[in-house]
Amino acid sequence: MRAFVISEESDTLAMGVRDVQPRSTDGGDILVHVDFSAVNFKDAMVATAKSRVRRLATLIGGVDAAGTVAASASPEFEVGARVAVHGGTLGVGRDGGFAEFVYSPAKYLSVLPASISTHDAMVVGTAGFTAMLSVLALQDRGLSLGAEVLVTGSTGGVGSQAVTYLAALGYRPVASTGSPQESAWLLERGAVRVVGRDEVSDQPGRVMGSELWDGAIDCVGGETLAQILRSLRYGAAVAACGLVASAELATTVYPFITRNVGLLGVDCVEAPNSTRSRVWTALGTVAPEIDFAPLVDRIVRLEGLSPALEDIRHGRTRGRVLVDPTPG
Ligand SMILES: NC(=O)c1ccc[n+]([C@@H]2O[C@H](COP(=O)([O-])OP(=O)(O)OC[C@H]3O[C@@H](n4cnc5c(N)ncnc54)[C@H](OP(=O)(O)O)[C@@H]3O)[C@@H](O)[C@H]2O)c1
Repeated sequence: MRAFVISEESDTLAMGVRDVQPRSTDGGDILVHVDFSAVNFKDAMVATAKSRVRRLATLIGGVDAAGTVAASASPEFEVGARVAVHGGTLGVGRDGGFAEFVYSPAKYLSVLPASISTHDAMVVGTAGFTAMLSVLALQDRGLSLGAEVLVTGSTGGVGSQAVTYLAALGYRPVASTGSPQESAWLLERGAVRVVGRDEVSDQPGRVMGSELWDGAIDCVGGETLAQILRSLRYGAAVAACGLVASAELATTVYPFITRNVGLLGVDCVEAPNSTRSRVWTALGTVAPEIDFAPLVDRIVRLEGLSPALEDIRHGRTRGRVLVDPTPG
């Protein structure tokens, strides 16, 4: 089969399309014929020399895939079932979705709701799954309908879908972006307003800022997350899901002990089956109200992956980059 292989030898990184055999590792006993994959920020981190994320010197990239089950040793997944594959070490420590076929353990597969095609499943992908997981985390914390929710990194894969799903579910997303030229696009996705990256907080000289947000979904981390914490309303929470700016977090305990705010962790990688099922069901319910087409930045073949990875590394994409593994 054709696959996009990333390989590092003596600190020299090589990437390209090769003919290889599908490899079943890590208990991967279900073979999926890949219709579409998608490019994520994490893929760019994997496709970097001396990557701290990649766990193998040589592997097929791609932390996302959707397609049909081609062979299965699991009674849960019949041949022909339409599935999404993401999580665990996919595309990080075992061969990923940038290929015509991928093996996966059952626990990282989800049967797609009838309302979501394999194409749309990769518009959603890890990013949209994480966006919905973040929305559910805020709902579990008591987010009220009509609440104003800040979304950072809002033109990205996670952020744009967080804006889209929040709006579809009756909340009022405020999109924070470093790409003001995309304001109209964010408003079309359902943002009630668009703010700059520096506008997530105020009163810089004080320990606490004004109470600005009923909730937040943060893709950025670092100083942005610290600023959100000091600007949440009393009792509100932020779902922390990303680190595009920084993995560091320097804050005080004041937001927690004076405003009862919540810092909610969001991890899609090891989400248990019950959570996966809950998230895909929620996505399936909202899908008929969503126009997925504008969320697609472009569709590339395996040969177009190197420039796409470079673009996502530098924040030059809007929404999702899909990968079609069939020959061009
Ligand atoms: N927790 C999980 O399970 C999970 C799952 C999936 C992804 N993630 C993480 O979530 C984050 C977003 O992923 P993604 O796929 O949406 O990435 P993406 O498509 O590359 O989007 C990231 C967005 O962040 C903004 N941005 C980029 N560089 C920035 C910087 N230096 N400072 C501030 N903002 C910056 C840009 O949006 P604007 O121009 O609009 O500001 C960019 O479009 C990543 O850190 C990823 O690793 C976590």
